[in-house]
Amino acid sequence: MVSSFEYNISTKVVFGKDTEKQTGSLVKAFGGTKVLVHYGSASAKKTGLLDRVLASLDELAIPYVLLGGVLPNPRLSKVYEGIELCKKEKVDFLLAVGGGSVIDSAKAIGYGLYHEGDVWDFYIKKREIRGCYPVAAVLTLSAAGSEMSDSSVITNEEGWLKRDAVSDSSRCKFSILNPELTYTLPEHQTMCGAVDIMMHTMERYFTAGDHMALTDELAEGVLRTVHQSAYRLKENALDYDARANVMWASSLSHNSLTGMGNESGGDWAPHMIEHEIGGMFDVAHGAGLAAVWEAWAQYVYKTDPARFARFGNKVFGLPLTDDAEMDALAAIAAMVNFFVDVRMPKNLRELGINPTKEEMAKMARQATNHDTKTIGSFQKLGQEDIVRILEFANR
Ligand code: NZQ
Ligand code: ZN
Repeated sequence: MVSSFEYNISTKVVFGKDTEKQTGSLVKAFGGTKVLVHYGSASAKKTGLLDRVLASLDELAIPYVLLGGVLPNPRLSKVYEGIELCKKEKVDFLLAVGGGSVIDSAKAIGYGLYHEGDVWDFYIKKREIRGCYPVAAVLTLSAAGSEMSDSSVITNEEGWLKRDAVSDSSRCKFSILNPELTYTLPEHQTMCGAVDIMMHTMERYFTAGDHMALTDELAEGVLRTVHQSAYRLKENALDYDARANVMWASSLSHNSLTGMGNESGGDWAPHMIEHEIGGMFDVAHGAGLAAVWEAWAQYVYKTDPARFARFGNKVFGLPLTDDAEMDALAAIAAMVNFFVDVRMPKNLRELGINPTKEEMAKMARQATNHDTKTIGSFQKLGQEDIVRILEFANR
């Protein structure tokens, strides 16, 4: 049966070529009077995007302060720096120019400005989030979906824990999506993004209980489109239509749409395992997901082989036979072939890491909060299950 749901996404999307020129007017429309322009290490400056965004703010005489240097797997220390700067400069609007890491860092600064006390408390679920300063994005990388999601993922260098904080209040007020801004991405980053977008959809697809027929079709459409677009981008990184499809898929895959009406909200076990790997080894998120997915899928598919079989049929066009287990294994193999084709790692060795037994045990312990909770909904996984998945991935 279709489950009840609420869907209320407050992000205004402005999609298309040259849309970054509207930054100033959008900030103004959403009430920003002093802006933090937040960005990463090099790309926003190098491509000239930062200058164009600042020119758009200058045109409307909107004052701003700059804070660059956000790293992939964004760090808590940069968030603290941002909170201090914004308090000092009386900033009331946070503009992220970059990918998921920059947007997530801006969201964390937004939480820090809204509340007294340590912002990390929200990431370790010590305190409830009550609100967030307004955040908006000029997106340069189709991947994390943070431009429309309710989530922010931050890494605390003390202990190297990577954790998320989730609140509707952090959803971007507006997101500027110009597919051309992703032309400069290295192929590896483009493909990390494609994998992440597919995973956001699959985390909501491989879940226990009933699924809404329309939601399944939407999810499969997103998956097919990203799969096909990734091959087009491998051939031609400047294929506007492929970039546009992947960019819109990034937003739709993680703005809750692809999970609506399903009985359980999402699985998220591959993501939670990747967050442990990302925290400990600082790997690119999409690559980390690819490296654990097959191990996870092989471990859990017997819970519902028909679901995997349908995935193979609808996404990769594989035939459905009367042997659901064989079809499920063929679907897993097709996904892994895709990783190979787009040069994504299919295991931890190809990801470039080789965790020790102790490190794997530590990751499983952290993911389950010392075995006090399970992760996943398709199949609930405890500490021992995660160790076995990591061992299988580590080959
Ligand atoms: O720092 P710069 O120089 O900008 O370089 C970045 C960075 O090195 C580069 N890049 C971005 N746009 C570019 C570009 N290079 C050339 N041309 C461009 N147009 O790409 C590198 C990676 O950027 P990053 O923002 O880290 O990537 P992504 O968007 O994949 O974000 C990953 C982070 O998001 C989190 C991940 O865990 C990870 O920390 N996630 C956030 C989610 C959310 N908030 O909803 C959900 C996701 O599942 C994910 O966990
Ligand atoms: Zn992700």
